[in-house]
Amino acid sequence: MIVAGAGIIGLSCAWRLSLCKIPVTIFDASAAGSEASWAGAGMLAPGGEMEEASPLTEMALESLALYPQYVGEPREASGLAIDYRRCGPIEVALTEQEAGELEHRATRQAVLGIPSESTVFPGSISARYFPDDALVNPRDVVAALRVVCLRQGVRIHEHERVLEILPGDSGVMTSKGRYEDDGVLICAGAWSSDLAPVGLPAATPVRGHLISYKAEAGRLETILRHQNTYLLQRETGSLVAGASTEHAGFDRTLNETTVQTIHRRAARLLPYLAAMEPAERWLGFRPGIAGGIPAIGRVEGTSIWTAYGHYRNGILLAPDTAQRIVESVISPR
Ligand code: GLY
Repeated sequence: MIVAGAGIIGLSCAWRLSLCKIPVTIFDASAAGSEASWAGAGMLAPGGEMEEASPLTEMALESLALYPQYVGEPREASGLAIDYRRCGPIEVALTEQEAGELEHRATRQAVLGIPSESTVFPGSISARYFPDDALVNPRDVVAALRVVCLRQGVRIHEHERVLEILPGDSGVMTSKGRYEDDGVLICAGAWSSDLAPVGLPAATPVRGHLISYKAEAGRLETILRHQNTYLLQRETGSLVAGASTEHAGFDRTLNETTVQTIHRRAARLLPYLAAMEPAERWLGFRPGIAGGIPAIGRVEGTSIWTAYGHYRNGILLAPDTAQRIVESVISPR
């Protein structure tokens, strides 16, 4: 199998396929995991993202349940640490109206299997705690997956872009040459439409800025959320705040005004941040998709599979996506 895209989705699929003795060659236009997987905060939080019964909500809950095993295996096999914690995010309401909305949402979520309970948070009118949600450092996951993929014999070609799929789905042409194989899996995130056959939903980049502060480790033990602002802290102490949501194509220019807006939003939740300067700022391109449902599975009548369009939830959905792709690849046509 040729895999186009070595982000968390591509690496997860490559690893699981290789465990099924399927030879895999994976290509990435830059370094493995250096785009959305590198930029992502790593919230594993259906409680913050899902509020309707939908296939996406089902996938999110399935994937969350797979996470301990999903990170445990590569952690053990690679010997690399993965910062994964079931830390139970807290979402706050700062106005009466927000409090009502949060309560209403929590009632709907409980029916979906997303429990939450009332809690207190300084400065808020009300707050809810989501005991099942978790966080992970996606950069740790990618690093461990890269190691275990190589150990499993996966050939990883970095800085080699897949340009096109060969006629008859018999392989790919890359920026460096021609590779034949009997199947191609497209998981190139926001760039997937460059390769996906006509008729599949379009992938679109949705830019997000994030910032981080150098803080003492252990200062923030949960994810803290308010509307479209979130804060979480890595085991290293790095305290991450996000995010913006922008339709700006693949423009990589950092916008200082956006950075300062996120800084102000973050300081509203944790006032001690107001006196700190963001130590890092970065952006990434969420893999948006027309229709909002990730394109996962075999393209009918072809030897092409797709796994793209995870939008805000690529890190969360990686285990379930890999499982679905493996099931589809190994199942008889
Ligand atoms: N998953 C959070 C975000 O996309 O900003």
